[in-house]
Amino acid sequence: MQEARILIMDDEEQERRRIEEHLVQQGYAVVAVGSVPEAIEAIRHDGFEVLLTDCNIPGVDALKTSDEVRRIDPDLAVIIMTAFGTIETAVKAIKAGAYDYLPKPLDLDQLVVLIGRISERQNLIRENSELKERLRERYKFDEIISTSSAMEQVLNLAGRVAGSNATVLIRGKSGTGKELLAKAIHYNSLRANFPLIKVNCAALPETLLESELFGHEKGSFTGATVRRIGRFEAADKGTLFLDEIGELTPAMQVKLLRVIQEHEFERVGGNQTIKSDVRLIAATSKDIERGIREGSFREDLYYRLNVVSVVIPPLHERKEDIPGLIDYFIKKYGEENRKQITGMSTEARDLLIRYNYPGNVRELENIIERAVVLAKRGLVTVKDLPIHVQADREEGKTQPAHLKGSLHETLKTMERGLIVDALKETGGVQTQAAERLGISERVLRYKLKKYRIRDDGVNAGKKI
Ligand SMILES: Nc1ncnc2c1ncn2[C@@H]1O[C@H](COP(=O)(O)OP(=O)(O)OP(=O)(O)O)[C@@H](O)[C@H]1O
Ligand SMILES: [Mg+2]
Repeated sequence: MQEARILIMDDEEQERRRIEEHLVQQGYAVVAVGSVPEAIEAIRHDGFEVLLTDCNIPGVDALKTSDEVRRIDPDLAVIIMTAFGTIETAVKAIKAGAYDYLPKPLDLDQLVVLIGRISERQNLIRENSELKERLRERYKFDEIISTSSAMEQVLNLAGRVAGSNATVLIRGKSGTGKELLAKAIHYNSLRANFPLIKVNCAALPETLLESELFGHEKGSFTGATVRRIGRFEAADKGTLFLDEIGELTPAMQVKLLRVIQEHEFERVGGNQTIKSDVRLIAATSKDIERGIREGSFREDLYYRLNVVSVVIPPLHERKEDIPGLIDYFIKKYGEENRKQITGMSTEARDLLIRYNYPGNVRELENIIERAVVLAKRGLVTVKDLPIHVQADREEGKTQPAHLKGSLHETLKTMERGLIVDALKETGGVQTQAAERLGISERVLRYKLKKYRIRDDGVNAGKKI
């Protein structure tokens, strides 16, 4: 926890000293000044968390001062010291944004308690915004690993619609990264500071799902002992991510349609109409068009959800993404398990490129996590891969794995491999690697970025 830095402003020197000494003894960093200009100068030059100011300095308007300093630093907590007869000014100052007031002569213990409370609050605010910042970092679009043009298109489209309020329907088989994309859209939208709430429509039976989404009033059904706020209310100003939307029952489809059209609903068992400002992102791994043809999914709801449609292809259709994902997960799980894994043997990499991934990226991620745990140190090798992946080794003998698939895909995989090799051979010196590859250094740098070959040594085995 960070200790607060405190600025004291009081024209009575003796009192100023007394407070300063006490706070310094408590371990705070303190600066004490006797006039407004000095205080403003200090706030401009050093950061403070707390300003303790007398509101009875001749010729000084305490209200104005408090206002002025908060304009310089809006996070500064202002404590007003009031003498007899100045309480009214202090109350006005608090209404205008000062944090609190204390009567003079100052009770130093009371002051320390108050400062402690302020620091705690400021630390919480700081931690909270750091946490949000980290989440946003984590879900930046460029943290979604992609090399394939199919994924680039997906990310490009998602990036363009993120800032709007448009409903997005994300489709893709299990484990392709639908939820990851939904998070990226939310954290790149204007709603990023408001909640992202997820509801899995397949996880609950109809009645429970209804109360989950819309909430319920106390006593609305057996077991409803307290009033409960639904997810639509909880996500107000934020984003509601409805996963497995294809599993909604016909009755729930009607209810959802109404909220989308009218932006309002009632809690289960309630009459009060509730408004909520929610951006919807829906996902499905099912073929919704088929549901429409078969009559199990409402066409009007489909059109409402499908304002922007994003399709994430299965991993076996975008094999160019595999090498980048391998490196990304090796780094992730290497760090998580504190293991010095420098990369993967070419043979193991070939097997992983050849494999079909019915469980898509999630399956690849699990394979790498397991391999990192099993690997001794250094390189992940074939024996660290699951048996069913190893079994592919014999079948593909006739043709190296990276030469399978479309021409475009194959060329990209080969290009990436050549670059990584060149970097390894030149000890990571880019000028030499570029020369060896017969390309300019600028082109090399561009390709390093394109193929997400990182400069942390995971790929090339050494710093590049
Ligand atoms: N392009 C990617 N880059 C990095 N990680 C990815 C990528 N795609 C998926 N992942 C990771 O793979 C795992 C599965 O992704 P996610 O949960 O988003 O898939 P999903 O499509 O929602 O799956 P399901 O349909 O099973 O719910 C997650 O750990 C996610 O972070
Ligand atoms: Mg999911």
